[in-house]
Amino acid sequence: MTSLKLKTNITSLNGEITIPGDKSISHRSVMFGSIAHGETKVSNFLPGEDCLSTISCFRKLGVTIEESDGQLRIIGKGFEGLIEPTEVLDVGNSGTTIRLLMGILAGRPFFSSLVGDESIGKRPMTRVTNPLSELGARIDGRKNGSFTPISIRGGELKPVNYQLPVASAQVKSALILAGLQADGQSVIIEPEETRDHTERMIIKFGGEIHKDNQQIIVKGGQKLTGTTIHVPGDISSAAFFLVAGAIIPGSEVVLKNVGLNPTRTGIIEVMQKMGADLKIVQDEESSFEPIGDLIIKTSNLKGTVVEGDLIPKLIDEIPIIALLATQAEGTTIIKDAEELKVKETNRIDTVVHELKKLGAKIEATDDGMIIHGKSPLNGGTVSSHGDHRIGMMLAIAALLCEEKTELDNPEAISVSYPNFFDHLNSLIN
Ligand code: S3P
Repeated sequence: MTSLKLKTNITSLNGEITIPGDKSISHRSVMFGSIAHGETKVSNFLPGEDCLSTISCFRKLGVTIEESDGQLRIIGKGFEGLIEPTEVLDVGNSGTTIRLLMGILAGRPFFSSLVGDESIGKRPMTRVTNPLSELGARIDGRKNGSFTPISIRGGELKPVNYQLPVASAQVKSALILAGLQADGQSVIIEPEETRDHTERMIIKFGGEIHKDNQQIIVKGGQKLTGTTIHVPGDISSAAFFLVAGAIIPGSEVVLKNVGLNPTRTGIIEVMQKMGADLKIVQDEESSFEPIGDLIIKTSNLKGTVVEGDLIPKLIDEIPIIALLATQAEGTTIIKDAEELKVKETNRIDTVVHELKKLGAKIEATDDGMIIHGKSPLNGGTVSSHGDHRIGMMLAIAALLCEEKTELDNPEAISVSYPNFFDHLNSLIN
């Protein structure tokens, strides 16, 4: 494991960054390109480790995928074109890959086995394997089917009729992908609205899906057709620079090409409520997924409460929101966010533990955290714990640190933002 000396004591950030492709949409572009008929071209694909794991799994399932310079060419032959893999499918660190892939494999009449890294081995899979087993797939795994390694023998599926116990786009998407292969119409109900990239993909690939509040209706046996996808920039990556621009004195940062899907923009709502000077220049042309530029300037911030149906719209941004809250006047309470415990790490524990080391006044609760601001940050040796978003949050925190600060295991960042440090350095004057 390596350690990286982080930049500290930064006086301002200035400049412009073009945000790399969205991770969720990049995964789905490979998956839908693979199950559609014909050629799909993808531009601005995110070459992060997670999305490369998705490409590798679909190649093992017999799909031709050419990749060069952020452009993909995928030749899909429909669900029926996928073949029994001769090797295990390794999803690396990627929860989206394994959970959505299980939804696809549940309907395929062959055997496959799925593995991942140490973090994947701790993440709950029954939320997907239980409903897929009820539909007719034969699934097993370690600890009674709860964890990887997982084996699937798919086949004919009954239509889905399922109320999700947790607000999870990964579970919803797995069931939609199974529903596309079922014999009949499926109904999936989510407790709160989650990211709708899968639904948008189906429409983009010429399919049909209906949404009525939190109820999703999808017909089985649809034929999807290859298309052209431009992946917008990832708002979850932009979030690190939004917060950096807001808290480093005298900053002005322009973030270009950011995806502004309303199921993902919770961070913007929270920052505006806290008093951030944040401007949005929306691109009126983009219809598949809304896109725009964001301009952030430093301002005085005040604490807030982040809760309820806003949580799924910013679930991946909570580590960086916690840092933001350390620099806001007053108390910030984050609640209803138990799901943080089953992310790449237990993000309630890792955020609180690491920010405390730097001198933040932060405490963990059962379903979130409480942060008291505004507090200076000192510095020290911190760790990503192998979690990309914890690593990036700490690199932004270090900018404010007064003393030498080192990050253990910075490599984790390449899961979602391989050129994160190049972008950060380009803003430092
Ligand atoms: C994702 C959904 C979210 C999110 C993850 C990506 C997706 O997970 O945290 O980073 O692409 O569908 P959950 O569905 O488990 O909430």
